[in-house]
Amino acid sequence: MQRDTFLIGAGQTPFGEHWNKGIRELMDDAVDKAIEAAPCSALDIDCVIVANMLGESLSNQAHIGAIAAALLPHHPPALRVESACASGAVALHTAIGLLESGRAETVLVVGVEKMTDASTDHVAAALMGAADAERDLSAGLTFPGIFGLVATRYMYEHGLSREDLSLVSSIHHQFAKENPYAQFRSAVSSHDVSKSTLVADPLRLLDCSPISDGAAAVILSTKHKSSMRIAATQLATDSVSLADRPTITSFAATREAMHSALAESDVRREQIDHLELHDCFSIAAVINLEDLGFFEPGKGVDYYRNPEAYEFTVNRSGGLKGCGHPVAATGIKQMIDVCKQLERSGKHYGLTQNFGGACATCAVHIVEHRAAAGASPFSTQ
Ligand code: COA
Repeated sequence: MQRDTFLIGAGQTPFGEHWNKGIRELMDDAVDKAIEAAPCSALDIDCVIVANMLGESLSNQAHIGAIAAALLPHHPPALRVESACASGAVALHTAIGLLESGRAETVLVVGVEKMTDASTDHVAAALMGAADAERDLSAGLTFPGIFGLVATRYMYEHGLSREDLSLVSSIHHQFAKENPYAQFRSAVSSHDVSKSTLVADPLRLLDCSPISDGAAAVILSTKHKSSMRIAATQLATDSVSLADRPTITSFAATREAMHSALAESDVRREQIDHLELHDCFSIAAVINLEDLGFFEPGKGVDYYRNPEAYEFTVNRSGGLKGCGHPVAATGIKQMIDVCKQLERSGKHYGLTQNFGGACATCAVHIVEHRAAAGASPFSTQ
């Protein structure tokens, strides 16, 4: 990192169904909380970056950067970032670039998605904007279908059983019970997962992240300090269609972003205490743990057999499965959760992995917690 960047304020709405709120109100709620938590005023924000994927297709609303800027008294410059479900982390990456260059000293990053007003069919079609229109859409695929293919191949290659795969969602739902911002806060057994409605063979309802509304905001600064320093921000890409890849049971963009993030932060994998990874479907969590290098290929599900046996934690927030997945808000919410976990545990390093499409875009961030270095961005929450 060329300049030390700190996370100085954070806020989010609960994820779930917000019948009475649109994109503007959801952003307003998250931004208000982030500013309230920060050691600066709204007027100190030099620039706003908004992450949003589905504004046009589900709410007939583009130009969301300017809408977010109008929530602040001084209408600072604003822009929007769209990278499918990785939009939130790519917005963070963009903000950190502006801060490192010195063009801005304090940046507000807000991710928002309003999905539940539309029918499931409409949402599934809109989400396919993240896939390859020529190769995937024309084959009749949806995202549950794409990850169904990934799961089928993974089960064939590694002998993963239906019962073992069900452990993933069961554990993430268990963790979500403790998260007041989570969409689902009730226990789900692995038997419940295995018996839930079939969506795209072998994936069932409870293997899938849900359709959600929500917003999450952070304030990043090189001028004001806090106990949370961004130690790495890395972005990698791959072909959008799985059809163009040599394998579909491991994602090269995750491996590459992780490799670069460890090098940038000078942190070793064994030093990571808390992870929030992108479990849009249960099989993705298993593959991500392997691609991030915490498990050998075929062994990622071992974590879910006994999470307490490991020194690091995974998706203690409940992940996308338990918390919900308002797609462009997710990467920012992961950053907030990993910082909260560091603050609670007093440990030192957190990692987030947020991907878009079938991991065609992947961002990995590493956060360093230095309790003595500055105030907590969560003191008001
Ligand atoms: N996990 C847990 N519960 C879920 C759920 C999920 N993913 N999706 C819906 N539910 C619950 C609902 O709350 C509802 O419960 P209720 O009857 O107690 O109110 C019930 O299951 C039926 O919900 P419904 O809205 O009818 O489900 P649906 O069939 O319309 O949608 C999916 C289910 C899985 C198809 C939808 O959630 C989906 O498409 N998820 C994937 C989203 C996606 O692709 N994101 C991008 C990732 S890359």
